[in-house]
Amino acid sequence: MGLYEKYLLPKMIEAACNQPPMQVLRARYVPQAFGNVLEIGIGSGLNLCHYSDKVTSITGLDPSKELTDMARERAAKASAPVKMLQISSEEIPTSDAKFDSIVCTWTLCSIPNVYSALREIYRVIKPGGRFVFIEHGLAPDLAIQRWQRRIEPFWKMVGGGCHLTREADILIQNAGFSISRLDCAYEPGPKFAAYMTHGVAVRPA
Ligand SMILES: C[S@@+](CC[C@H](N)C(=O)[O-])C[C@H]1O[C@@H](n2cnc3c(N)ncnc32)[C@H](O)[C@@H]1O
Repeated sequence: MGLYEKYLLPKMIEAACNQPPMQVLRARYVPQAFGNVLEIGIGSGLNLCHYSDKVTSITGLDPSKELTDMARERAAKASAPVKMLQISSEEIPTSDAKFDSIVCTWTLCSIPNVYSALREIYRVIKPGGRFVFIEHGLAPDLAIQRWQRRIEPFWKMVGGGCHLTREADILIQNAGFSISRLDCAYEPGPKFAAYMTHGVAVRPA
């Protein structure tokens, strides 16, 4: 890992993910998690203050040591006990059907093998469990899509592997989930990175 990834990138991710429009979306969706929660790509822990008292425990996983260190500081103030795992989501070391809810915000874009990660997410959530997601991705406008495809190779290099053209809702449905709520809209910001897809999906019982 280079100096950029170790020192600069985690601070840039923290700043980029802490913008007011993102906090509004976190406040709308994260309280929908309940019970025993797994957060995929917990980053610096910006969702932790949004969990409701319906949550009994939170397990946060993320491969970044720098970001999980920041999340550990926020964990002290969370409303439920938090356990942090410094691992990737493509292989989750836990038994099947363990979690009532899984939360994933602006992370499916950055996971190298998103298909394996979603297979694991489906495996470890309980039947009937709730998958809460907020992602950015492929814009509906062709002109923006063209820019997204042009910029993506460079963006991935500077943005910790972040893809601009993933379609979270389609990926989630293809993994077997049934989407019970879905909203898509541009948020403030550069349009190539501001088209958001958020909602709640359920693993069929
Ligand atoms: C844009 S940040 C979002 C962080 C956090 N979810 C939030 O909402 O603030 C993307 C996160 O994905 C994490 N990530 C990258 N590869 C991953 C993987 N294979 N499994 C899980 N998380 C991963 C990064 O370390 C980073 O924390």
